[in-house]
Amino acid sequence: MNFSTAKNEIIRLLSRVDVSELPKLIKWMRNSEELDDCFVDNEKVLLQSIAEDLRTCLPLDAMLPSESLAIGKAQLNPESTVHVDAFLYDEETIDSLCEEGKMSRDYCLQCGSHRTAPLGFISHSFSALELRFLFQHILPDLTGRVLVDVGSRLGAVLYGGHLYSSAAQLVGVEISAEFIQLQKMVVEKYGFTDRIQVTHADICTQASLLQNADVVVMNNVFEYFLESKDQIRAWHCISQNVRKKGALLVTVPSVQEAIAALPGNNGMIDIHEWLEEVPLNYDVYLGKDTDPDSFKQIHLYRVL
Ligand SMILES: C[S@@+](CC[C@H](N)C(=O)[O-])C[C@H]1O[C@@H](n2cnc3c(N)ncnc32)[C@H](O)[C@@H]1O
Repeated sequence: MNFSTAKNEIIRLLSRVDVSELPKLIKWMRNSEELDDCFVDNEKVLLQSIAEDLRTCLPLDAMLPSESLAIGKAQLNPESTVHVDAFLYDEETIDSLCEEGKMSRDYCLQCGSHRTAPLGFISHSFSALELRFLFQHILPDLTGRVLVDVGSRLGAVLYGGHLYSSAAQLVGVEISAEFIQLQKMVVEKYGFTDRIQVTHADICTQASLLQNADVVVMNNVFEYFLESKDQIRAWHCISQNVRKKGALLVTVPSVQEAIAALPGNNGMIDIHEWLEEVPLNYDVYLGKDTDPDSFKQIHLYRVL
């Protein structure tokens, strides 16, 4: 049933409700979490099951000992910031871990006192809700299209793309061999081999893949994981090879922000002759844990 038919059905139903009961019913529709059950779909359950499998293979912060550069960079953040992977840990899982004392949402401002403040979380993956927003509300129909996830890490974008889109091919390129092993395990176990491929490589060696992609996803790929000079090299490679006219580029943060943050950047990439930004509607409700601020980090561009 589409939106306008559903709306008419609801109006018809409401017109039959006892007038004295109507305010109670409308209040319930506005505020009740019971309606959130409508947002539980098979895809969400599968993503939760994948996250559960991956959690058993990784430490709580989902960082590998080999990621010394990223760990070092994260330590430069204020002590009130911790790594919590949003794909592995949704709000409910974080709540249960907090109850078990294994995780905390707050840090102590003064040891031994009850003065606490909320911790900031850094995630290196999209959450299941962000994946749904990406594939159902940002991207067009991907039938017959090739999507490349640059830095595929746990594979969240690839699994989300398999479950929520009809993309012909979903290709993950990841520089860490250990994460490639984890992605391969999930792809085999969940029967995703028909449309997902994963490649262990530096994206800078994958020029023809980038040239042929219809959609390229870049979620905070380089900032934490590469030295400054390698970040500059990688952005050059992206801007030289993601050139197929009309191809879509999804980034977090915006391309402008990512490039401006590069050291010694003095207009090395002319964004205006390369891309046009596509305005997005971030006002989408996907259940009680919807966080419009996290959606607003996501930007979409069309290659000119
Ligand atoms: C923030 S994670 C992105 C996760 C995933 N795309 C998502 O949205 O859920 C960035 C990943 O990019 C990888 N990476 C960094 N530089 C890379 C490069 N030059 N080539 C391939 N992967 C790279 C890192 O190892 C890290 O796992």
